[in-house]
Amino acid sequence: MSRTQMSDNQAPENWMQHIRLETEVFLKRELPDNQTAPRELHEAMRYAVLEGGKRLRSLLCHAAGYLYNAPPETLLVSGAAIELMHASSLVHDDLPAMDNDSLRRARATVHVQYDEATAILVGDALQTQAFITLGHVPLPAARRVLLMAELALAAGSQGMAGGQMIDLISTGSSLNQAELEQMHQMKTGALLRAAVRLGALCGVDTDNKELLALDGYAKAIGLAFQIVDDILDATMDSATIGKTAGKDAKQAKPTYISVIGLDESKKLIALLITQAHAALADYGAKADRLRQLTDVITRRCH
Ligand code: IPE
Ligand code: IPE
Ligand code: MG
Ligand code: MG
Ligand code: MG
Repeated sequence: MSRTQMSDNQAPENWMQHIRLETEVFLKRELPDNQTAPRELHEAMRYAVLEGGKRLRSLLCHAAGYLYNAPPETLLVSGAAIELMHASSLVHDDLPAMDNDSLRRARATVHVQYDEATAILVGDALQTQAFITLGHVPLPAARRVLLMAELALAAGSQGMAGGQMIDLISTGSSLNQAELEQMHQMKTGALLRAAVRLGALCGVDTDNKELLALDGYAKAIGLAFQIVDDILDATMDSATIGKTAGKDAKQAKPTYISVIGLDESKKLIALLITQAHAALADYGAKADRLRQLTDVITRRCH
């Protein structure tokens, strides 16, 4: 039995840890090594991606694919591609021109560890690496193109990059709750949703009606995830979250804390998690991994 074909009834932590390990091993092999020219860029890319992060996007991709019996090797590649895109977004998010952050995954951010120009190039190169990687997913060419288009849409001006733009132009001003939700769904929800969709699309066709239900799940957890992130920023210390705590308020970012407050934010998370479970109501035990991932998202702020 390969490591990706473990039995169904293992404890949640086991399959998650197993996928995290496999993702790490895959990414280590996939990224150009430190000796490949230009070494400065490849070393910094590896620094940005490896040995850090919860790998939630890879886990979501695997859990969604598991539901449709997608071949494990297609999920490994797709999950890693999403993690590369996510890492790219983090490197750029931390730049002085954006959040100007010095701590990420309990280490110095890329522009602090190397320099700003290198960090810009690392973000660019990781973004293209995500597509290079996804282009190798062992599926028919038409399906590969579909997956790449999904990722491109999620990362672009109507997804993550667009949400980041709204984040920047809203800094120092106030948003109403609908605007805030839109921003969060774009800057963070879009890639989380793509993680779920890529996993599912490794196993089923786009016209599968069940994808709509899965979308309900993905949108609910996507928003819940960024509300949790807002709460962590406001309530935890830097050592616990591995990034600079309290910076949203300092930088006057509109967040769920600033717009509806901590108590209402927690209630909203509970409601979104209920919605996520409701979206999966018609699925059987094969959706348990997706169900279990809602706990990974919420338990961080308890
Ligand atoms: C951080 O994402 C950035 C947001 C979208 C809030 P994660 O909290 O998933 O970061 P890692 O990958 O675990 O470091
Ligand atoms: C980041 O949101 C979203 C993206 C990286 C696209 P935040 O700015 O809140 O993320 P953290 O808190 O720095 O991880
Ligand atoms: Mg930001
Ligand atoms: Mg940030
Ligand atoms: Mg944050």
